[in-house]
Amino acid sequence: MITSNISIAVNALNQGELVAIPTETVYGLAGSAFNEQAIHKIFQLKNRPTCNPLILHTHCISEVSKFVNEIPPNARKLAEAFWPGPLTLLLPKKSIIPHSVTSGSHLVAVRIPNHAVTLALLKQLDFPLVAPSANPYTRISPTNSKMVHDYFGDALPCILEGDICSKGIESTIVGFHENAPVIYRQGAISVDAIEFIAGKSKVLATKKEKVTTPGMSPMHYAPRTKFHIVDCISNFIVQNPNLNIGVLTLGKTIMEQSNATSIQLSITGDLEEASANLYKAMYDLDGMDLDCIIIERFPEIGIGKSLNDRISRASFR
Ligand code: TXA
Ligand code: MG
Repeated sequence: MITSNISIAVNALNQGELVAIPTETVYGLAGSAFNEQAIHKIFQLKNRPTCNPLILHTHCISEVSKFVNEIPPNARKLAEAFWPGPLTLLLPKKSIIPHSVTSGSHLVAVRIPNHAVTLALLKQLDFPLVAPSANPYTRISPTNSKMVHDYFGDALPCILEGDICSKGIESTIVGFHENAPVIYRQGAISVDAIEFIAGKSKVLATKKEKVTTPGMSPMHYAPRTKFHIVDCISNFIVQNPNLNIGVLTLGKTIMEQSNATSIQLSITGDLEEASANLYKAMYDLDGMDLDCIIIERFPEIGIGKSLNDRISRASFR
């Protein structure tokens, strides 16, 4: 059921059920962080390995200090700059946080999402929510309620409606090494914006590096259709006349070609707008029974780096 009624979601969560929640990044598959059965259901429904830990979601910084032992000065600065918002901080957990949430790590990932519906929901609960993205393991993260419903159907009794996610890619995950920021996942806040507040960072887990975080397996966020990053969209279309090709473009329009179906991510070439549209566009093309989906790399500036991270994972086979 897709509902706008927060009370229905509150009741379901109080009873240990799962609820899909809207956030500004992507929809989350949420359950009580203090209910082992709910945590188990999340892993089961997503078909996600239990070694891949979950992000804790709460509604204010004073709540966060109930769950973590220490907030390094740079973490506090980032929290003040970006919360509520698409920032996840990795901090040393208090024993109140179950090991099943962190997959045994002494660090817990925490964030305060910036979405009015979910903030209102969190305020009505006596517990924080754990919420991975609401997609089956390795599939494209959902940025609207319909995608969530398509993925899980009746196996998920409640989806809280919150319109389209305004950011459209996952939060930026930041840990700390002696107070210096370490970027575990590039996301909706650019590395430049993190460094502006907290100084020089180390960026982990790019595609070619060894996988350092459980959830950063190279194949992630993937459509089922073959997904290629190409140097030149037009050349690829002309050189492959026998393929039915899905095309994602940033600002460009491509020449009408009978073998290509294209979606423009932003008419003006705006990276924020492209980010908001990317997953739904990938998902829509994935549903069209095409031979492949192609895209050119985004400019390596600001959030373009995060978008390039996502498309390179999507193209990994
Ligand atoms: O934007 C987001 O962060 C969305 C929305 C729903 O909040 N959530 C999300 O969750 O993307 P998920 O589970 O799809 O991705 C969480 C990532 C995974 O790569 C996981 O390995 C990492 O966070 N993570 C979580 N807890 C961690 C921990 N204690 N240590 C290291 N990595 C952690
Ligand atoms: Mg995910």
